Amino acid sequence: MKTAVVYYTLGGTTRAFARAEAQARGADLIELRPARPYHLFTAFVRGCPAAIRGQAVPLAQAPDLSGYDAIVLLSPIWAGHPAPPFNSAVALLPAGASVEVVLVSGSGASKCAGRVRAQIEGRCCTLAALRDVRPHR
Ligand SMILES: Cc1cc2nc3c(=O)[nH]c(=O)nc-3n(C[C@H](O)[C@H](O)[C@H](O)COP(=O)(O)O)c2cc1C
Repeated sequence: MKTAVVYYTLGGTTRAFARAEAQARGADLIELRPARPYHLFTAFVRGCPAAIRGQAVPLAQAPDLSGYDAIVLLSPIWAGHPAPPFNSAVALLPAGASVEVVLVSGSGASKCAGRVRAQIEGRCCTLAALRDVRPHR
């Protein structure tokens, strides 16, 4: 089973979780980089509205996920939803993949679970797990 751990991070917290996941599974580690990088201010004014709408953003380099059977997708939560690069990665998921989603937030991500499931299943993938990580508690 070939596994990729795919993540976006703004502040570095999600990267730490992604590295640990990749190491534990012997998986390839892939960082998503938006073509227009966010900083804290633009994350709020530009990123949060896009996150709420479930919009993808152009990536500096779109990863080729076609050779992977299993994909672990990690994202920070912005305004209650995965940050926009998560949506960009969902659009690249190969049909039939088994997908685990890890959402990293300050106060929980349970409200967006239904939409995340629909997004993954909409790509004809299986949502094997959805975990909600709160490192700041
Ligand atoms: C623009 C922005 C919006 C955020 N919105 C939420 C939110 O709605 N709910 C929440 O629990 N945490 C929210 N957070 C906190 C982040 O999800 C949390 O700090 C996460 O660990 C950041 O991951 P990172 O360091 O990998 O970027 C927000 C952070 C940012 C920068």
